Amino acid sequence: MPTYVITGANRGIGLEFIRQLSQSPDNTILALVRSTSKDHSALKSLASSSSSNSHVHILECDTSSLSSIRDFAKSARSLLSSLSSPSSLSSLSFESDGKKIDYIINNAAINLSPQNSSLQLAPDDLLTSIKTNVLGPAKLVEFLLQQELLSENVRVQNMSSGLGSLQRTVEGEGGRQCAGYSISKAALNMLSLHLAGDLRREGGLKGAVVVVMDPGWVRTDMGGQGAVLSPEESVRGQLKVLHGLEREDNGGFFGWEGGRVPW
Ligand SMILES: NC(=O)c1ccc[n+]([C@@H]2O[C@H](COP(=O)([O-])OP(=O)(O)OC[C@H]3O[C@@H](n4cnc5c(N)ncnc54)[C@H](OP(=O)(O)O)[C@@H]3O)[C@@H](O)[C@H]2O)c1
Repeated sequence: MPTYVITGANRGIGLEFIRQLSQSPDNTILALVRSTSKDHSALKSLASSSSSNSHVHILECDTSSLSSIRDFAKSARSLLSSLSSPSSLSSLSFESDGKKIDYIINNAAINLSPQNSSLQLAPDDLLTSIKTNVLGPAKLVEFLLQQELLSENVRVQNMSSGLGSLQRTVEGEGGRQCAGYSISKAALNMLSLHLAGDLRREGGLKGAVVVVMDPGWVRTDMGGQGAVLSPEESVRGQLKVLHGLEREDNGGFFGWEGGRVPW
C-alpha cells in the first residue's frame, strides 16, 4: 500500500500522475498544488471520482516558498499518522507501514523567459527558477526527512529534462533555447547526485534511491501542443521506470522509456 507525494499535481504531467496512480485504491496519494485557493478543479474532480476518493489528498505546497514546504511537511505528518497501517506487504517487496512516504515525484517546475539565451538572462527569472526547480525539491526531501516520514526504501524522482543534459547541450540537441530553465535543470541533476549519497549516509535511509527523469517532449502547457508525447504515454512509461528501480539505480538519469540519458 504505497504512499506517493507529487508536486505540481493540478495540471500537465503532474495531473496525469494522479490520474494513473488513483486508479489503484491501494495507493495513498498526496497531490500537492501551489495554492489550494487557486483553481484546481480538474484535480478535485479526479480526486472525488472513482474508487480513488479517500486515497487522494490535496495539499498546498508552493515549491518556491520554504515556509510553504515546511508547512506541508507538518501537514503530511499529521495526515499520515491519522491513516491506519496496512498489515500486508506492498507490491514492491518492501514493507510500507502506511505512515511513511514510498515515492516522491518532484514534478513542479517553471520555464520563465524561454526565448532568452545565456546572453540575455533575466536575473529575477533565473533566481526564481533555481528557487522553484532546485531548492524546492531539495527542501521537500529535507523537511519530510526531518519529519521522519520517508520510508527506508524511498524512491525520489526529480523531474529534469533533456535540456538539463550537459552532453546533449554540447551536441547541440535542442539548440540553445531556454537557457535559464536548462541551467536550473542541470543544477537539479547535480542536486540529485548529492541526494543519492546523502539520503543513505546522513539520512540513514539505506535503501533510498534517487533518480533524475526526462519525461520526453510532452503535450502540456509547458511542452506545447506540438509536442510528440501525450501525458498518458509519458507518465505510463515513467511509472514503469519508477516501479522497476533497483538499489543500484541510485543516482541514475533515466528517460521515460527506461533508457539512460547522458549527463
Ligand atoms: N512538457 C514537457 O515537454 C517537458 C519536457 C521536459 C521536462 N518537463 C518537466 O516535467 C515537469 C512537469 O511539466 P509540465 O509539462 O506538466 O508543466 P506545466 O504544464 O507547466 O505544469 C507545471 C506544474 O508545476 C506547478 N508549479 C509551478 N511552479 C510551482 C510552484 N512554485 N509551486 C508549486 N507548483 C508549481 C504548476 O502549478 P500552477 O498551475 O499553480 O502554475 C503546474 O502544476 C516539469 O518539471 C518540467 O520541467 C516537461
